[in-house]
Amino acid sequence: KINITNSYDWQYRQNLDDADEEFDNGRITDALEKYRKIIRNHEKSVRAKYGIAKSLDLTAELQKSNELLVKVIEAYINTLLTPDVPDTLFKAAAERTINRMRFKGDYESTIGIQNLLINKFPNDVTYRNDLIVTLFMLNRISEAKTKLEDILLIWPNNGLAMVYYGFVLKQIGNLSEAVYYLSKGIESNEDGTQDGRFYFHLGDALQKLKKDEDARQVYRKGVEKGLFLSEVQRSLYNVNRLTGRYWWTKEQTTYQSFFRKLERNWKQIRNEGMMLLKDKYNEFVEESEQLREMGDWRQYELFSRGIRKSQCNKAPITCALISDFPPAAGCRRGQTKFSLMEANTHVWPHCGPTNCRLRAHLGLIVPTNVSIRVASEHRNWKEGEIMIFDDSFEHEVWHNGTSPRLILIVDVWHPELTLEELGEGRNR
Ligand code: LMR
Ligand code: MN
Repeated sequence: KINITNSYDWQYRQNLDDADEEFDNGRITDALEKYRKIIRNHEKSVRAKYGIAKSLDLTAELQKSNELLVKVIEAYINTLLTPDVPDTLFKAAAERTINRMRFKGDYESTIGIQNLLINKFPNDVTYRNDLIVTLFMLNRISEAKTKLEDILLIWPNNGLAMVYYGFVLKQIGNLSEAVYYLSKGIESNEDGTQDGRFYFHLGDALQKLKKDEDARQVYRKGVEKGLFLSEVQRSLYNVNRLTGRYWWTKEQTTYQSFFRKLERNWKQIRNEGMMLLKDKYNEFVEESEQLREMGDWRQYELFSRGIRKSQCNKAPITCALISDFPPAAGCRRGQTKFSLMEANTHVWPHCGPTNCRLRAHLGLIVPTNVSIRVASEHRNWKEGEIMIFDDSFEHEVWHNGTSPRLILIVDVWHPELTLEELGEGRNR
């Protein structure tokens, strides 16, 4: 055990080995006792501290105890803060600390541990890239950007740093530089770079730069690698066996009676939407800028991720209709919302996040010269009529008319998902 034993621990290494043996044989209480005994005589024993942390760790896992987990993390941190920790032991303890913090859902705290690793191993780019992942999870994009610029100064050809940097540039709308870094990073083929998200954003940046042929090539490569279901179906959270088709009839969804009920009540739904329009700039929230080339596009959300929102108070009839139908009300991967689009709007081609839902549109106020394309098939809304598509397929919307368009969007679970897959989501 040379690589985890510093010169101080070396003096009583036999005692440490004995305690480790208890641990390795699953006698955790005995091991813990032995480690603690060592600590009483050798306060600075890093191996004993690590042994205590590991013993508590195993106990916490067996007991599924969150309270103990806090102590486990503290015990690992105490190990890390001991003087003269051997590298191997430091890495193992730090990595486990981070793992346990993430398990607890505490991403913020991992930053401190990741900085300890970076300071101790300044030449290892892995730890720096790992910190970027944490910053992404915390949505601290500008901090990630600065740090990535530092990384790329020292390691200009690091593939993972390049895809991360490209991803950041894409988020802030710097499309051509994003393309440069995403493609170079992907080309490196390094560990972690062959991720659907990077292919997704590279292709998207290319499409927005009107380099459609290049985008298609990226998508084809993504399909070959098994990252996308198809060139035109690029959702990243998928259940692979589900039927995928661009447009669905009401009958194909098996939800026809629900959809017919919405159609029968369309005027009431429209009335509720029109009331909201009176104060539309306050009631409706802007859709993501990133999805629009130009124009004005807003939503009023009623249900989101399977939860009925307080906005329902201003659209009680619509919400009652949805509440009554669990595949819509309980659709944890979707929403129900009024969607308002002003004239002269173009929504970029894009794909939804998952193939587990279908998206129904009920036309409420439909002027001329508005249309939607799903993959290769264009359609037009009609007032009082439902149309249904799978929004994991590439779709694009144009409003070249002269007055606003209003529809109700209702997401429903894909009908082929099993009750088990839906969990609490669907009760019928
Ligand atoms: C979309 O889901 O992207 C659009 O079809 C929504 C809309 O308002 O047209
Ligand atoms: Mn969409």
